[in-house]
Amino acid sequence: MNVIIRAEKPTEREVSERILRAAFGREDEVRLSTALRGLSDFNPNLSLVGADENEIRGYALYHRSTVDTGTGSQPALLLSPIGVDPAYQRQGIGERLVRHGLERCRVVGLELVFVIGLPPYFSRFGFQPAAPLGLTPSIAIPEDQFQVIDLSGRMLGKIQGRVALPSPIAGGGQPVPTDS
Ligand SMILES: CC(C)(COP(=O)(O)OP(=O)(O)OC[C@H]1O[C@@H](n2cnc3c(N)ncnc32)[C@H](O)[C@@H]1OP(=O)(O)O)[C@@H](O)C(=O)NCCC(=O)NCCS
Repeated sequence: MNVIIRAEKPTEREVSERILRAAFGREDEVRLSTALRGLSDFNPNLSLVGADENEIRGYALYHRSTVDTGTGSQPALLLSPIGVDPAYQRQGIGERLVRHGLERCRVVGLELVFVIGLPPYFSRFGFQPAAPLGLTPSIAIPEDQFQVIDLSGRMLGKIQGRVALPSPIAGGGQPVPTDS
């Protein structure tokens, strides 16, 4: 199977949604991807598919988020959702969607990428829990599931603050109270 990773075409959205529905076995991530695509800062170059000669087999979306440091705002990205057709899982498609996506993020100069979910899966790429590093999400997320990778290697430990997640995610969660 020869899978390539590339930007999704607008005509392929329905197929990507079908992949997400099958991967997660529910509608939540389909609704999330639809809502994220509708935001003004949606970047189609970071809406990625893994496709073989016949069909799309996996989908991953990297969306804008920011770290509010108290004195400023640092642009970042959130990888969510990512899903692979169950019939094609464990063949490296998810890994390629992550690695290729992170490379695209690096090329556009974004250093911090966050992800929600599956600590054992994402740690292999260098993601680590964000909260112990002082990067806390704006909604309640189990600490081990909210992870970050520093693509430049010069941000973690130097930047701390509240991570403002895209509104379709933040709107669906419990806000974490601020100290002030
Ligand atoms: C998680 C997911 C995107 C990985 O994609 P994939 O193409 O199947 O994964 P890869 O082939 O790159 O990597 C396979 C490895 O990932 C690990 N892995 C796969 N699914 C995993 C899971 N649910 N939990 C932990 N590790 C997992 C395994 O270690 C596997 O290696 P192995 O076959 O040697 O055991 C895919 O399994 C999926 O769509 N799962 C359902 C949706 C989901 O949970 N998405 C992520 C949360 S946002």
